[in-house]
Amino acid sequence: MTTPSSSAPLVLGIETSCDETGVGIVRGHTLLADAVASSVDEHARFGGVVPEVASRAHLEAMVPTIQRACATAGVSLNDVDAIAVTAGPGLAGALLVGVAAAKSLALGLDKPVYGVNHLAAHVAVDQLEHGPLPDPCLALLVSGGHSSLLRVGDVTGSIEPLGTTIDDAAGEAFDKVARLLGLPFPGGPHIDHAALSGSSVAIDFPRGLSSRRDLERHRFDFSFSGLKTAVARWVQACEDSGDPVPVADVAASFQEAVCDVLTRKAVGAAVSEGIEDILIGGGVAANSRLRVLAEERAAKEGIRVRVPRPSLCTDNGAMVAALGAEMVSRGRDASALDLPADSSMPVEQVLAG
Ligand code: KG4
Ligand code: ZN
Repeated sequence: MTTPSSSAPLVLGIETSCDETGVGIVRGHTLLADAVASSVDEHARFGGVVPEVASRAHLEAMVPTIQRACATAGVSLNDVDAIAVTAGPGLAGALLVGVAAAKSLALGLDKPVYGVNHLAAHVAVDQLEHGPLPDPCLALLVSGGHSSLLRVGDVTGSIEPLGTTIDDAAGEAFDKVARLLGLPFPGGPHIDHAALSGSSVAIDFPRGLSSRRDLERHRFDFSFSGLKTAVARWVQACEDSGDPVPVADVAASFQEAVCDVLTRKAVGAAVSEGIEDILIGGGVAANSRLRVLAEERAAKEGIRVRVPRPSLCTDNGAMVAALGAEMVSRGRDASALDLPADSSMPVEQVLAG
């Protein structure tokens, strides 16, 4: 962590793209507060995030979460130099709540507002833990909503997508397979835990987009829906034959298939781009096997791996504030006050409006 500098910009960041209401406050690269209110329990019985439920929860949580962040940071809203907010991508209704809150603050306080890209924020957050980002770096972003490989130069303006999922996101695959195995939502941590007592080579599940033909068109893209179907068929066959499902072995073998593809493609992309630093972010970055395998494979190529601590990997306001602070430090223009919430904001576009 870098030393706080009173000349570094004090930025409040708001995140509402999915089911976490996050409000973070940073000064430059120093994290001062990271308040998060999650509605995940309200979605659990549906097995996935329900957009309208998430939007309502953001509305209820917004003001108390802002107050909590200010109290933790020991700052008043008037001290803040700029407001940053996730403008997209994400759930439209959920994004609107955050964007409306950010505009109100900016207008009321007469401060600039930066409507930023959620994926770039997942990258920028690592600066709060490991200091300035290497330029360039290769980002592997894996969560319930995204699975992307990005070449990142300057995080405030130069992000190039190298690959993405063509169907499910990696976290979504964890959640769906957990459901098949009777594990609670969100399933990632439960699969991770169950896998500890299983064998990763018990079942040879398919590796999506890894055949020679697929690699020609989708070298750095991902696909997890075929894997999910393979697990479903395997579990069904087991149940049909009256055998108990070996949950730990299925979890470990499934997890290995996901982590194998993610790390192979991330390291392959870094090598092909001549990049020496890989940054992993998003909720799936908390996966114990992903981290070990990434470090093992990267080390063989002389590549370093950076992973922020789990609370900074999952959606939070600090990541948005971190990107906002970087925007201010680099003298980027703020967004217009009529900036839109853009549910499908392209990854190359770091700033909205
Ligand atoms: O970044 P995040 O909090 O929210 C989204 O933007 O989706 O990521 C949540 C996702 C869920 O799919 C969850 O199952 C997954 O991250 N996840 C994990 C682990 N912890 C969370 N997946 C695998 N292993 C974990 N330990
Ligand atoms: Zn995210």
